[in-house]
Amino acid sequence: MVSRIVATYGGLLLAAAVGLSFVHPWGDLRNVDRHSELFLGSEVPLEVRQVLDRKCADCHSNRTYWPVYSRLAPGTWLMEHDVSEGRTALNFSRWHEMRADEQIDALSRIAAEVRSEEMPPTAYTMMHPGRHISDEEKQKVAAWARVERRRIRAASESQKEINGQ
Ligand code: HEC
Repeated sequence: MVSRIVATYGGLLLAAAVGLSFVHPWGDLRNVDRHSELFLGSEVPLEVRQVLDRKCADCHSNRTYWPVYSRLAPGTWLMEHDVSEGRTALNFSRWHEMRADEQIDALSRIAAEVRSEEMPPTAYTMMHPGRHISDEEKQKVAAWARVERRRIRAASESQKEINGQ
């Protein structure tokens, strides 16, 4: 008797979860070009690229890896919410669409978020322990952000001179 009730309610819950998994309050986040290059137009050393790719790109690019639990509600909403907000704040796949001053600003924010350990978010590193950012990685990202900021600024200054501004 008890097992039949459990089976019935279990079945109903699963059916509800499956049904709700088709509800995507933040739109279709999976329908993007997954192969678009990250930081197009910028110079990113391989070791820095690996950090940003592994530890940030799930939420800050179109190259999101969707784990199995993200297929079923409510996991799907938790993750879609992060991805939607993360891509809106900064999308590495749309780097080339940003103006030089926006890229410079984004680089400062990347360094600041990493230094203050705001990013990657704690809830994410708890779910994926391998995504925690080490002190060495933090320094590499911050050093790169500084150099790349300078390079972009110099490039945009010389572009202005060419344009006679
Ligand atoms: C689990 C998803 C997730 C991961 C992984 C993640 N972020 Fe974020 N990030 C967000 C969300 C959501 C926001 C917007 C809300 C906020 O600022 O907290 C954000 C905001 C930001 C911002 C903008 C902050 C501002 O000043 O407006 C930067 C910069 C950033 N993240 C950098 C990073 C970097 C660098 C990494 C990797 C080391 C990373 N994030 C990993 C979800 C994520």
